[in-house]
Amino acid sequence: MYRKIFILLMGVMQLTWVAAQVKMFTPGKLWPDNNGVHINAHGGGFLYFNETYYWFGEHKIEGKKGNSAQVGVHCYSSKDLYNWKDEGIALAVSNDSTSDIAKGCILERPKVVYNKKTGKFVMWFHLELLGKGYSAARAGVAVSDHVTGPYTFLKSYRPNAGKMPYYNDVTTSSDKVNCDHPANKSDHFFCRDLPGGQMARDMTVFVDDDGKAYHIFSSEENFTLQLAELTDDYTGHTGKFIRIYIGHQTEAPALFKRNGKYYLIGSGCTGWAPNTARWFTADSIWGQWIYKGNPCIGPGADTTFGGQSTYVLPVAGKKDAYIFIADRWMPNNAIDGRYFWLPIEFKDDEVEIRWKDSWKLDVFKK
Ligand code: GAL
Repeated sequence: MYRKIFILLMGVMQLTWVAAQVKMFTPGKLWPDNNGVHINAHGGGFLYFNETYYWFGEHKIEGKKGNSAQVGVHCYSSKDLYNWKDEGIALAVSNDSTSDIAKGCILERPKVVYNKKTGKFVMWFHLELLGKGYSAARAGVAVSDHVTGPYTFLKSYRPNAGKMPYYNDVTTSSDKVNCDHPANKSDHFFCRDLPGGQMARDMTVFVDDDGKAYHIFSSEENFTLQLAELTDDYTGHTGKFIRIYIGHQTEAPALFKRNGKYYLIGSGCTGWAPNTARWFTADSIWGQWIYKGNPCIGPGADTTFGGQSTYVLPVAGKKDAYIFIADRWMPNNAIDGRYFWLPIEFKDDEVEIRWKDSWKLDVFKK
């Protein structure tokens, strides 16, 4: 009896100790969750809901096999951004090999948004069908009534079949595509995919202040980013979209808004190997998106400090507090992939990111 109570007490003490131990960000290091296990949520997306942060990401397993989806999307929650509680698998892959999300498919960069009108949580992700490499290039969507899931898979497809881009007075003539005479490689891929829908790989989802949501994804064989409006319930595309930085191979998009301006950070296109980041800014979500070069500064800046963007997280209740969130991929042992979070520094409206071995939220003013 006493022995049992003792063991129970020890267990509680250990859990409390583990849960209390993370007091700062240590980019690139192992990041233990409430059970002392390295967080398993790669290519992550974040949602702030009911004063809690939720982190959704690819659950990886050991070895190269972990680069495909053997388990699904893992969810964690946190009140302070340092300490994360394991909330389990939010979206599980299917054991039915004919399912779009069959175990062993590729399911990457999940992002969850909350729809105030429907009261549902909507998860978008990049989906590659089982056994087809990276050729399917589809967007997948799942929904849940509860933030931590379980999420129910709805559908996967290539967006905006039959739709031409949206043009406005900031669209330049070189941005316009003529499918009778595609002017370059990316236009050619765009036109090829016009009937069946545009390819959708690396992605994020952004919800604007007016409640409109946008899906931003690498398209046209990764040559161009597309930014597409989602329907009011966030589970489909409206057909309105623009193409960003045509022909330049941008991946890993992360979009945020500050002082009414829009910002987009992304990477080049070199698979799991790191490359130079890039950022863009626009006064309107519909452009013109202006290319601004590499936001990273200092040693390691030309390889994004060995990582690749996945999200920019605004810190709730603090002004000008945005965290750049990246993955350091470990393709030979996927589960060992690391995360690094770095504070974004603003010089007026310019974005700068510097490496830090460790840091705390008090770098942000208020
Ligand atoms: C990266 C991409 C990852 C994953 C990987 C596969 O460029 O950002 O999400 O798709 O390629 O090689």
